[in-house]
Amino acid sequence: MLLKKHQLNKTLTLNNRVLMAPLTRCFADDNLVPTKLIADYYARRSDVGLIVSEATLIDPLGQGYPNTPGIFSKAQIKGWQTVTKAVHEKGGKIFCQLWHCGRVAHSVYTQQLPVAPSAVSWHGHVPRTKDLEYETPHSLTTKEVKKLVKKYVHAARNAIEAGFDGVEIHGANGYLVDQFLRKATNKRTDKFGGSSKKRIRFALQVVKSIAAAIGADRTAIRLSPQAYVHLEYTKGDEKTYKKLLKKLNKLKICYVHLGAFSDHYTFDYLGRRKASEFIRHYYKGNFASCGGYSPESANSAIEKKQADLIAIGRPLIANPDYIEKVIQGKNLKEYHMDMLGKLE
Ligand SMILES: Cc1cc2nc3c(=O)[nH]c(=O)nc-3n(C[C@H](O)[C@H](O)[C@H](O)COP(=O)(O)O)c2cc1C
Repeated sequence: MLLKKHQLNKTLTLNNRVLMAPLTRCFADDNLVPTKLIADYYARRSDVGLIVSEATLIDPLGQGYPNTPGIFSKAQIKGWQTVTKAVHEKGGKIFCQLWHCGRVAHSVYTQQLPVAPSAVSWHGHVPRTKDLEYETPHSLTTKEVKKLVKKYVHAARNAIEAGFDGVEIHGANGYLVDQFLRKATNKRTDKFGGSSKKRIRFALQVVKSIAAAIGADRTAIRLSPQAYVHLEYTKGDEKTYKKLLKKLNKLKICYVHLGAFSDHYTFDYLGRRKASEFIRHYYKGNFASCGGYSPESANSAIEKKQADLIAIGRPLIANPDYIEKVIQGKNLKEYHMDMLGKLE
C-alpha cells in the first residue's frame, strides 16, 4: 500500500504515500538562497509521493543555524523556483516547510536578540557554534505577534510564487509555534497566552490565515506533542494539543505531520500512547507519521490505518534512490552522520 498512488484531497494526488521528511542541510548560500546543488539533491528524490523541503525561514530574525534557506526575499523565491522546477520536471511534488526558530534563533546570525512568546531562555549551546549560549529572547508585543502571523502568510504566498505545491507550517520541535503552545515557554497574559484556548491561538491564526491565502488543501502543519527537543513538557500541555487537534479537524487542511526522531516510545502524559497514536486519536484528517520507520514498518502502519502517509528522513539522505530500492527489494545503505557533510 505504501507505494500505491494516493489521493490526498481534491487538489493533490501523490504517486505514493512516502513523504521525504524535512531535513535541514545548511547548504544555502550566504544570502540564504537555495543553489543548483540543492535543486539536484531534491530532484534525485522526486519519486517520493511528496517532498517536504528542509525548514525554510519566513523571516531573517528566525535564524538559528548557518546557511539555512529563506523564503522572504526575491532572490530566495527565484532560487526555489529552480528547485521546484527540477522536482516537477521529474514528476514529483514539493511543499515548503515554513520555519521560525523563536527563542532558539541567535544574534550571531540575526544581529538582534531572538523573539519569542515570553522572555524565557533555553539552556545549552547553540548547535554548530563553538560555545555560544542561547539568549534570553525579547517577549513579543501583541502587535508584533499579529505582524508575525502576516509574515507567515507572506512567506506562504512567496512559496506558491516559487512553485511549491503547498506549505507545511513547522509547528514542531520546540520552535516558535511550539513555544506558543507550551506552558514553559508561553507566560503571556494577553489573548495569546494564559489558557489552552489562548495558547493555541497563534498556531490557529497562522494555519487559518495561510489556508485562506493559498487554500486549505495546500496547507499542512507539523506538530510534536511529545516535547522532545528545545523545550520541556509541563503538566497540562497535552490538553492544549488535544484542543488544537480538535480545532484543526474543522479546518480541513492537507495533513498533520508528527515531528519525531523515533516513534517507538509511549508517553505517560499522552495517555500512555505513542505520539503518533495521540495525534491519530484526536485528529481525523490525513495524518503523516514519522520517526524510525523501515519500508516494512511503514507499509504495515499504512495497512493498519495508523497513518495515511509516512515520512522518511535519514534513510533518504543515505539513499537518494530509496523508492527504487524498496520496489526492487534491494538493501538500503545505512545512514551515518558523516553523510551530512556533502549534498548527494
Ligand atoms: C539532518 C537532519 C535534519 C533535520 N531537519 C529537520 C527540519 O528541517 N525540519 C523538521 O521538522 N525536522 C527535521 N529533522 C527531523 C526529521 O524530519 C525526522 O523527523 C527525523 O529524521 C526522523 O525520521 P527518520 O527516522 O526517518 O530519519 C531533521 C533530522 C535530521 C537527521
